[in-house]
Amino acid sequence: MCGIVGYIGNKKAAPILLAGLSKLEYRGYDSAGLAIIENEKIVVEKDKGRVKNLYNIKAIEELNGTIGIAHTRWATHGVPSKENAHPHIDNSGNFAVVHNGIIENYSELRTFLEANDYKFISATDTEVIPNLIHYFYTKDIKEDEYRLLRAVKSTADKLIGSFAIEVISKNEPNNMIVVRKDSPLVIGKGYGESYIASDIPAILSYTKDFYLLENLEFVLLDRDKIRFFDNDLKEFEKKPTTITWNAMAADKNGYEDYMLKEIYEQPRAIRETIGTRIEDNACKFDELNFSKEYLSNIKQIYIVACGTAMHAGITAKNAIENLCKIHTEVEVASEFRYTNQLIDENTLCIFISQSGETADTIAALKLSKMKKAKTIAITNVIGSSITREADYSLYTHAGPEIAVASTKAYTSQITLLILLAIYFAEVLNSESEDILQKLIKELCSLPNKVEKVLEEADKVKEIAKKLYKEKDIFYIGRGIDYATAQEASLKLKEISYIHSESYAAGELKHGPIALIEKGINEIGIITDESLVKKSISNMEEIITREALTTLVVSDDIVPNIDTNQFTNVIIVPSTEVFVSPIITIVPLQLLAYYISKEKGLDVDKPRNLAKSVTVE
Ligand code: AGP
Repeated sequence: MCGIVGYIGNKKAAPILLAGLSKLEYRGYDSAGLAIIENEKIVVEKDKGRVKNLYNIKAIEELNGTIGIAHTRWATHGVPSKENAHPHIDNSGNFAVVHNGIIENYSELRTFLEANDYKFISATDTEVIPNLIHYFYTKDIKEDEYRLLRAVKSTADKLIGSFAIEVISKNEPNNMIVVRKDSPLVIGKGYGESYIASDIPAILSYTKDFYLLENLEFVLLDRDKIRFFDNDLKEFEKKPTTITWNAMAADKNGYEDYMLKEIYEQPRAIRETIGTRIEDNACKFDELNFSKEYLSNIKQIYIVACGTAMHAGITAKNAIENLCKIHTEVEVASEFRYTNQLIDENTLCIFISQSGETADTIAALKLSKMKKAKTIAITNVIGSSITREADYSLYTHAGPEIAVASTKAYTSQITLLILLAIYFAEVLNSESEDILQKLIKELCSLPNKVEKVLEEADKVKEIAKKLYKEKDIFYIGRGIDYATAQEASLKLKEISYIHSESYAAGELKHGPIALIEKGINEIGIITDESLVKKSISNMEEIITREALTTLVVSDDIVPNIDTNQFTNVIIVPSTEVFVSPIITIVPLQLLAYYISKEKGLDVDKPRNLAKSVTVE
C-alpha cells in the first residue's frame, strides 16, 4: 500500500520523482524519500511525514542526477520514521531499493543475513532486499551487463510475499532494475527516458504508452532501452499499451479536492460505463458473449469485494436475483476466504475492485478458481492484478479515482452490475421484455438525474454545517435504501471520523433504538414506494425520542408524506428501485465531504487509510 516512482533519462530526476510521489500519496503518506545516482554515488533523502516535506529539503533541490527511485509509505513493518522510510540501502551503500508490498519471510532472511554479518538499521521487512542483492552481487563472479539483474533475480527467488521493487546501484550507474509480484508496477515509455510507477496516473503527464508488468517479469532499463526478462532470465519482447485517459483526468482540474471532483464526475463516469454496452435497447457484453446454455448452468452467484465495492455488490444483489432468478450471495472478501463456501463449477463468482489490487479480493478470486467456479472481475484499472487472475474482466470506465474515499467508482460499479443483470436476464429470457426495457431507459437517464442532485450541493453544505460537530450519526433504510445507508455511513466515518452506524430500519427496535436519545442525529433514506409507510413509522419512532432527523427522499414520494416533521429534507429525482442508490448516494457523499471540510480535515487522505489495500 505504498507508492513507488522511478525515472531514468536525461532530465533531472528529483522534480519528476517528487511530482510522481505527490500523485501517489493516496497509496500511503506517512513517510517519503528518494535515492538518486549523483556523480556515481547514491544519495538518499527521506523523512517522516508527507511528500511535501521533501520539497523543503535543500539538498534535493541541488541534485542533478538523472536516474532515481522514490517512495511514499503506508507503514506495515515499523512505525513511520526516518529510519523506516524508503529507499533502503545495503550495508555497503552500493544498492538502493524502494519496495511496495510485504515480505512475509523477512525475519528468516534477516537472520540469514545477520549470520553473514549484515547489520540492520530499520524495523522494515524491506531492508533485507538491498542486503540480499549485495550478497548475491558479490558472490557472482561474472562481470557482465547482467550482473545486477542476476542479483535481483536471486533475491526475488528468496522473497515470499508481494513486492514491486526498483533497484539502482552505484556499480551500474546507468541502469535500473524493476520487478513485481502481486504488487502493481507500470513502466511509461518516453524518448530516451522511462518512467516507472505504481500506477498510471502518477506518470500520465509524460507519456501515454505503458508496459503493464506481469508477475515476475524482470526489467533492465538504461536510458535508451527497456529490456524484459522472464523468470528464467530469458529476454522477450513486450508490447506497450496506449492509455486513452488524459492527464487532466488525473488532476484536480480546479476542484478543491479530488473527492469533490470525483463526485462531480459521476454523470460522465456512469455514461462512459454504459458506453457501448447498450445497443438497440439491449445490453451486450462482447467480453462475455455467454450462451443461454452456459448461463443456465449457473446455479448461484457470489459477489465478493471489500468496503465500498462490496456495498456496490449488496446494492446489485436484488436486481440480479429478481431479473435473473439466480440465488446471489454478497460476501466480504476477507471473510469469504475463511468460511467454507459451497462453491463449485456451477457457481459464478463476481469480484469487484476499483483498484484491482486489493489483496483480500484477489486471494478470494484465486480460491474460487481452485474450487472451479467461473470468475468475473469488475475493476476500473486496466491491466490491474485482478484482471490477470479472472476468467473474464469487465471495466468500469470511471477514469482514475484518486481520493481514498470511493465515489464515482461505486456508482459506476452499480451501473455495470445492473447492465450485467439485464444482459443475463436477456440471455436467460428470465424477465419480461417490458421490465428490462424500462430499466435500460432508466439507466440511460441516470447521468442527467445525478446532475440534478449535484445542482443542490449548497443545500447539502448547509446541513453539513449543522452536523459536523456530532459524535454519532445513524443511517437507516429499508430494502435497497439500507444498501445505500451502509455506503453512506462508511463514507462519513472514513473522511469525517464521526462514529456512524447503518441499520435496516426495521431492526432498530430490536436493539439499536436504545442508542436514540434527544439530540442524536439520524439520517433516513426512502426511495422505495412500496416501503414508504413502514419506513416513515421507523423514522417517527426516532422523532418521538426527540432525535433530529434528515430525510433523503425521492420526489415521487414527497406528496404522500408530511415532510415538516423532519429536521432536514433532501429531495432527489425518482427512478427505478434497482438503480436508485446511484442517485441517492450522491447527496450523502456530498454530506460526508462537506462535514469533513467543516472539520478542517484532509478529505482526500483520511488518517490510517490508503487507496489501494494490498495487504491482507
Ligand atoms: C472506499 O471509500 C474505501 N476507501 C474502501 O472501502 C475501498 O472501497 C476498499 O478498500 C476496496 O477497494 P477496491 O475497490 O480498490 O478493491
